[in-house]
Amino acid sequence: MSETIFLTGATGFIGGYVVVDLLTRDPDVQVLALTRAKNTREAYERLWASLQLHWDEATFRRFAPRITPVLGDLHAPDLGLSKADQKLVMTKATSILHIAASLNRKSAKACLNTNLRGTLSVLKYARALADEDRLRRYSHVSTVAVAGHRSNEVVQEDDGIDWNRSDYDPYGRTKKFCEHMARELLPDVEKTFFRPSIVMGDSRMEKTSQFDMVRAFCFFADLPLIPLRPDDRLDIVNANWVSEAIAVLHLKDKPRHDIYHLSSGTAAETCRITSQAMAETIGRKARFAPWLFPTFKASADALARSSQKNVVTAVGSLVSVFLPYIAWNTVFDNSRAVAELGHAPVPFSQYCGPLYTWSKKADFKFATVPLGPAPLDNAAGATTPAATSGADRAPRDGADRALRDGAVTA
Ligand SMILES: NC(=O)c1ccc[n+]([C@@H]2O[C@H](COP(=O)([O-])OP(=O)(O)OC[C@H]3O[C@@H](n4cnc5c(N)ncnc54)[C@H](OP(=O)(O)O)[C@@H]3O)[C@@H](O)[C@H]2O)c1
Repeated sequence: MSETIFLTGATGFIGGYVVVDLLTRDPDVQVLALTRAKNTREAYERLWASLQLHWDEATFRRFAPRITPVLGDLHAPDLGLSKADQKLVMTKATSILHIAASLNRKSAKACLNTNLRGTLSVLKYARALADEDRLRRYSHVSTVAVAGHRSNEVVQEDDGIDWNRSDYDPYGRTKKFCEHMARELLPDVEKTFFRPSIVMGDSRMEKTSQFDMVRAFCFFADLPLIPLRPDDRLDIVNANWVSEAIAVLHLKDKPRHDIYHLSSGTAAETCRITSQAMAETIGRKARFAPWLFPTFKASADALARSSQKNVVTAVGSLVSVFLPYIAWNTVFDNSRAVAELGHAPVPFSQYCGPLYTWSKKADFKFATVPLGPAPLDNAAGATTPAATSGADRAPRDGADRALRDGAVTA
């Protein structure tokens, strides 16, 4: 099946995984990757920075002809696409996979602009493609955070959104409304909503390129007294399983459901099991002190409010935003996705030790290597320069123009 996917978020953590999964799974897949960059070269450099967690440069170059950067920005009208790129999307795309978002739980403005305004613009492209009968599927990466305030629950997909519940933060609130917008604006379109839980690490390797939750995890693992209830479950899921599910289900002709929790579900492990798995790595057994939780939370919240910027306030801020999702003892049933894939995610206890050791050694940074100077073999075509306004446009070089023109007329 020939499939050209207009995809957002390829330069991000999950998006990078998904691009690799899509392209390696199906040789007939092409990706039009919405990318924030001034020109095609910079776009490829940014894509390479994301994809090198998975590929060496030779492999990236081999797949590059199937990745066409489309320069744009979720904040810009019509995504900031040039007329030529609008035409490219409207004539080539057969499906849309919207992954990009702001995960900034503290910024209502970032979530408003990226998640609400940005998603509305993506949905307008989806609507236009559907109106021309060209859209096979619209897939949307959402989050379990749409479930709002919960405690001690196993949440089923169809019970995830409850408009009478409060949300923990602007992120959860805006992601919830994004799902609603997609349903309202694309009632007649085949849609899939993916709701990952806490996506952390990769069960196949110790390396990662996203560190917020990893940093919070390492912080808790290092505490002499952990202020959590030992038998609370933490719904943590490996990125490679999440990505496999998104790629497989997006490409599938008829997925059985329209919403999938990409989570550990009822198999999610407790804090106690995770800490037992970490005992060898950190050289001691964890001690739990749940009665410290209120004091701990108050301290993290105070640090998050502090005007000072240092390592302590940064960690406090991180812990403060994630604490509701760590201490809610709520998991998200994943039996739909497990049935579709035929296998479950890998328990966190099986890979948390190497992830902890590697991340600390790497000082919570994924060191990228720059893309070599040789031009990329961009047979599939590319894009015009960006994107946010006419004034921002970088001068178009000859190579960019030739690639773009090739794409539009191909
Ligand atoms: N990571 C998790 O644990 C988790 C859990 C549940 C759900 N999710 C969902 O998974 C999706 C991806 O998350 P992630 O963890 O991969 O996040 P991420 O690493 O922060 O990536 C975010 C992506 O969105 C893009 N983006 C942000 N603002 C943009 C804008 N104005 N215009 C164009 N692109 C923009 C980023 O592009 P730039 O590189 O240009 O910034 C990047 O490619 C999100 O929808 C998120 O809600 C993630």
